[in-house]
Order: sequence, then structure tokens, then C-alpha cells
Amino acid sequence: MLENIAIILAAGVGKRFAGSVPKQYNLIYNNPVIYYSLLTFLQHNLIHKVLPVINKEHEDIFVNILNQYKLSSNTKLLPYVFGGETRKDSVFNALKNIKELENNNTANTFNKVLIHDSARPFVSNKIITNVINSITKEQGCIPALKINDSLKKVDHNNYITDSLNRDNIVKAQTPQGFPFCELLNSYKNSSNCNVTDDAEIIAKSNLKIAIISGSLLNEKITTKENLQYLEKLTSSVEYRIGQGFDVHAFATKNNVDLYLGGIKIPNHKGLLGHSDADVVLHALVDAILGSLAKGDIGDYFPPSDDKWKGAPSSIFLVKAKELLEDSFATIANIDITILCETPKITSYKQLIINNIASILNIKPSIINIKATTTETLGFLGRKEGIAAMATVLVLLKTN
Ligand code: CTP
Ligand code: MG
Repeated sequence: MLENIAIILAAGVGKRFAGSVPKQYNLIYNNPVIYYSLLTFLQHNLIHKVLPVINKEHEDIFVNILNQYKLSSNTKLLPYVFGGETRKDSVFNALKNIKELENNNTANTFNKVLIHDSARPFVSNKIITNVINSITKEQGCIPALKINDSLKKVDHNNYITDSLNRDNIVKAQTPQGFPFCELLNSYKNSSNCNVTDDAEIIAKSNLKIAIISGSLLNEKITTKENLQYLEKLTSSVEYRIGQGFDVHAFATKNNVDLYLGGIKIPNHKGLLGHSDADVVLHALVDAILGSLAKGDIGDYFPPSDDKWKGAPSSIFLVKAKELLEDSFATIANIDITILCETPKITSYKQLIINNIASILNIKPSIINIKATTTETLGFLGRKEGIAAMATVLVLLKTN
């Protein structure tokens, strides 16, 4: 099968950024810079494989990110390779690795290759699609931005020596896309070590390079100021609210444990249910799914499936967390109300809060648990079961 592959470059040390952590591993909006482009390419339907290129010195940081976001199980993600001294060396290593993959597995033939700087976290699907669609056997394609400012030449003392015509000049961005074989050959034939992008290498070949519109959001993070600017640009978020409600009846037998918010609570009776019947976590998961417009808990964990029999409800919350991450969404706050006559919840509130915070990897201070009775009215008042309501406010990054 002919496949398109994206190389995500992250082997640089970020000298100009000069941070305690390399720029591609700094956090933007709670996630590492590199995570955004990795996920964008992994989720793109025209990309079949993604190959990260990292610096050997940063291996631990990168592996932690793979584990934290459970990326290793993604079938599109190839095992990372190490980069080299320069960007050019890093790309060449990746291209040679792709060639080896082809040689070892004849089922894979790589057609188009896209090279993307991980330091450009907010590349859009549209740019990726446009680059891919523009690549042919005869031409590569890169996104670029027109220059709107005047261009000046300066001397070493920062005095202007000349003005330049900006009419035929654009700023090159990534992903830069080319037919794989032609790019590999150009890299093999290139002796120039000072190139800063792939278009410069391919320029020596017969391939033409087309331009499509880049975007301001796709600017590269080079300095700390760039990162702060991008952070400001992307601080425009959409607010999404979700609510969830769940009820479970008390079991008639006394041998069922009661779980609320993932905490085992001593009580003479537990709740009946297919899983562990944790009404608090069920309501919370539904609230998160609601905020993302992604259905309800039964869509992901059907009660008809024996797999979830007696399952701890924390696995449902872990799934909700993954869906939040897929949408680059973060939780602003959670408010939960537990309705029951018994047991008394007060002394377990903080334990529940801490447990939810740790599963969702959020601060306990944005979670609130309330408990109330129904003044002995209705089925809850008759102590026939427990209900829970959850409201979640989610911040969705618009890009
Ligand atoms: N890159 C790479 N291997 C290198 C150098 C750079 O994979 N030897 C990657 C960077 O990680 C980055 C992209 O190429 O995603 C663009 O390079 P640049 O912005 O120059 O990043 P750094 O080289 O890390 O930064 P600096 O030049 O300031 O040291
Ligand atoms: Mg560099």
C-alpha cells in the first residue's frame, strides 16, 4: 500500500530558546509543545505513519510523554529515531530509517513524506491536507506566509544599510512535503550542511516546490517570546458545559461494597449495578462526555458487554480523560452533588476529590463535592438507592 508519512522533528536543543527544558517539551496550555503536532498528524486521515525524531539526551522526557498520553499503542506511531547534530542530519536519519522500513517490509511503500518541526505545535489539518494534495512526482509543497513588514538589511552594529524588495519573498513554514524517493535522493546528494529546511535541499533537484498558505498559528517557537505569543493567541477558548446524572438502587444483599467517587465507603449496603455501580463517577463521566458532545457512558461501555461486569468505574473516567486530551480540552471545574439519606458523605468528600483529581490529573481545588438528602421524600428518601449529579465546565482550544 502507498502510504504518506510524517516526520516530526524534535532533536534540536533549542539554544535560542534557552530554557531549562528544550522548547518542544515546554507546556502550552497544559500539554507539551510536541504533543500537539504529534496528535494532529496521528489524527489526520491522509497520514498513515508518524515518525518522531528525538535527541538521545531527551529520551526520558519523550518516553514519559508517550506513556502519559498513551501514544505508544497508536498503530500509526512508529518507534522514535534519534536525530543528529543539525536539522539536516536529523531529517536524513529519519529518511534512511523509512527506507529501511520499506526494505524490511515490502507491504509498505512510502509515497509522500511530510517533514514538520515539532516547534510548530498548531499546524492545522487544512495545511496538512493542502500540502499532501499538492505533492506530485514533479513537485513538492510547503506552507509559507507573505511578508507584510518592510525588509531591511543591517550591519553588525545594527544600523540599516539597505532596503529590500519584499514582493517576491515569503516565510517558509512546515510541514514541507515531497515525494519520498526524490527527497531521499536529494539528501543523499547534498553536501551543504548549513541548510535550515528541506526545500533548500530539494531546490538542487529537478523538483518544483509549490507554496500554499501557511498560518500565523503555525509560526515556529524559537524564543521564549514566541512561546508566550502563541500561548496568548491560543488562549482564546470555547467554553463547553456538561451535566451528568445517575441513580443506582441499593443491593438487597449485604455482601456488596459501596463505591462513591472511586472510594470504598463503609455502609451496610452497596449499590446494584453492572460495574461497581459508582454513581458519582458515572455522573461525572457523563458530564465530561456531554461537554465534548461525545454521547454517554453506555456508548463506550455497554452494560450488555460482560467485560464491564464488576469493573471499577475509574476505567470509565480514564476513557473520559483520553477523550478530553484528544480534543485538546481541559477541565475548568467540576461540581458534584450526591443525593442520599445514608451514608453520611462529609468525611469522604476530600478523599473523593483527591481520587478524581489524581485520575484526571487536575488540581483538587477545582473539584467540589456536595451532599444532600431529599428530606425523606421519594425513593432516595426511602433509602432505596443513591443518586449523583455532576456538572463540568470544559475549556476547548479553538484552532
Ligand atoms: N531539529 C532537529 N535536529 C536538530 C536541530 C533541530 O530535529 N539537530 C528540529 C528542532 O527540534 C525543531 C526543528 O528542527 O523542531 C526546527 O529547528 P530549530 O527551530 O532551529 O530548533 P533548535 O535547533 O532546537 O533551536 P536552536 O536553533 O535555537 O538551537
Ligand atoms: Mg536550530
